[in-house]
This record gives sequence, C-alpha cells and structure tokens, in this order.
Amino acid sequence: MKVGGRHYRSLWADESAGVVHFIDQARLPHVFETATARSTEEIADAIRAMRVRGAPLIGVAAAFGIAMAVSRDPSDASISDASNKLRVTRPTAVNLPWAIGRMREKLAPLKASERLVAAWKEAQAIADEDVKLNEAIGRSGLALLEREHAASKRTINILTHCNAGWIATVDWGTVTAPIFMAHEAGIPIHVWVDETRPRNQGLLTAWELAGAGVPHTLVTDNAGGHLMQRGMVDLVMVGADRVTRRGDVCNKIGTYLKAVAARENNVPFYAAVPLPTIDWGIEDALKEIPIEERSADEVRVVKGLDDAKNFSHVHIAPPETPVANPAFDVTPAKYVTGLITEKGVIRATEKDLLQYWPRAQHSKAFLT
Ligand code: MRU
Repeated sequence: MKVGGRHYRSLWADESAGVVHFIDQARLPHVFETATARSTEEIADAIRAMRVRGAPLIGVAAAFGIAMAVSRDPSDASISDASNKLRVTRPTAVNLPWAIGRMREKLAPLKASERLVAAWKEAQAIADEDVKLNEAIGRSGLALLEREHAASKRTINILTHCNAGWIATVDWGTVTAPIFMAHEAGIPIHVWVDETRPRNQGLLTAWELAGAGVPHTLVTDNAGGHLMQRGMVDLVMVGADRVTRRGDVCNKIGTYLKAVAARENNVPFYAAVPLPTIDWGIEDALKEIPIEERSADEVRVVKGLDDAKNFSHVHIAPPETPVANPAFDVTPAKYVTGLITEKGVIRATEKDLLQYWPRAQHSKAFLT
C-alpha cells in the first residue's frame, strides 16, 4: 500500500546484503519510520517488541530470520538454534511456527552448500504468497460486501477490532483487503475502529484507512455493544491469529466480547483467515492455544504524542498496581457467521474447512 505516495510492503528483503527492512510499527501512527534487521536475533527482537506484528507478518519475518541464520551458518544446528529463538518470540499466532516449519522442511533435505539460495528464495515465496492470499481474501470479502450493499442500498458499517490491516501482513491486510477493494469499487463503507487497548492497534487501522481515504471512526473498546444495539453496525470483521479446524477463532483480546454482542444483536461476525492461520492439530481451542501474557507496563503506561508533538508516554497506574495482560482470546465457532478466506466465504465448521482444504493440503510444517 502507499505511504506518502510511495508503495511500500511492510517488510522487504535485500538478499545481497543479507538484511531485511521493515516498517517499524513502534511509533506508528505518529512517526513513520523504517528499520533494518541484520541478524536472526534482530528479527526475533523486532517480533518480540511488536515492531513487526500481526500474525501473517511475524510468520514472514521469522522465515527471513531463518534465511539470515543460514547466511551465517547453513548447518542443521544453526537452523535449529534460529528456529528455537524465533519460535518463542510470540506464542499465539500459528503463522510463526508454520513459517518456521515450512523453512525447515525445505532446507532439511538440502546439502549445506545449497541452503543459502534456497532459504532466501523460500522466505521470499512465503512473503509473496502472503500478498496473493490477502488479495484473494479481498476478492472473497468484496463479494460479501457487494451482496450486503445490493441488499441494503446504503453505507455499510463495519466494526473491526485490533489491526488486521496491510501493516499486519506483507501487503493488503486480511480485513482491510475487502475494505480497500469495496471502497475502490465505489461501495459506500464506514468502519468503526476499536481502539484495542492496551497496545492500541486500532490506531494503526485508522491510519491505514485514512491513507486509503476510507471513512472511519475510532471508538473505545467498550462502545461496540452500544453501537450494535442501535443498529449502527452491519457486520463485524476481525483478523485471526489461530483458527482451529472446528472454526474457533483466536484473535486479539476483546474479540470474543464483540462476537457475543454481535450474536445478541443479530449482527453477522466474520473473521478473515488465510490458510497459514489454520491450526489443523488443535482439538480444544480453550485448552490448547497458548495465550500470550504480555508485560504489565503495556497496561500501566500509555504512549503517544505530548503537547509539543514529541513521542512520549504517561503512567496511568502506579507501578505497584497488579496487572493481568492476556493478549488474545478465543471466540467459539458458534459465534462466527463465516470465515473470509482465499477460497471464498465459508462456514466456520470442521466439515467446511476440511472440504476446502483436504487433508493432503495441510502443511506438515506445524503438525511436526
Ligand atoms: O498482538 P498483535 O498486534 O500482533 O495482534 C494482531 C491481531 O490480533 C490480528 O488481528 C491478527 O494477527 C491478524 S493480522 C492479519
């Protein structure tokens, strides 16, 4: 997508220099800056600190992290060490172990001398595929929004939570792809953007929508139920960090509350989901999906611009205030109207998921 008239991907590699450049999300939307990771460790740090974030993007970043390890040392031990370092950075999004697994699968049978070229090529393929998947999700979601608009003949109000935008992927985004395409096609859209405490990823969504000229309104996380009750939301559209084959959706903390409110108010609830976000191995989402618990300071400290427009922070709670900060929750499939995928909009059931992705297509990568 474009920033200041220039096309950017969220992350791009310079194979000859053995480095990866990325849009640094740490100070967005206030400060737009790019950064460079020169080693596996630097990629791992950027993922951990959420300077690159969003399930698809952290998978791609990790794939390049493996390529960097191969550049330094193509041995099995080096790949294994890099995999372990990257895998533990963020536990919830399955895209991370999926991408690492895919890299390992590709590299394991090769001789050490063949691995360098293959590693960068495979990481780049994962990045390019992400863009294609999101574009295809965009077309699936566009068809859904076209139907909604044909039926209602008025502006479609979408509520979204967190950021499943282009900055959370290599390009397009999962939730934003259909929105950008519908806007481009002249369908009147308005997006209610949940602020998404404590990391305020909604600000990134608002920045992306503003960049594309899509009408939107930032709301506090608690406003959604009220808006739905008053008929001000036509559908909810969120991203996902891990979807089970039964259709349970793990996404940013607060998603579940939106889904429950949507059901109560007969508002359709959709999750935008590319194949690498599906975890075919999970039986019980509530018991088995690891929910990341993040630092207490994310809750106690709020970051933004001060009156002099300097990037700054304020402490909104004393340091001794006990804090819990679970970063994700699980929305059971029964609340999910549909999954917007690269294969179309499908029902969130095991039968439908297995029909669209027969077992032979499931990557072995994260099953091992
Ligand atoms: O903690 P984050 O900001 O990485 O969480 C992001 C989300 O929950 C997104 O909805 C999800 O990763 C999908 S991004 C296309």
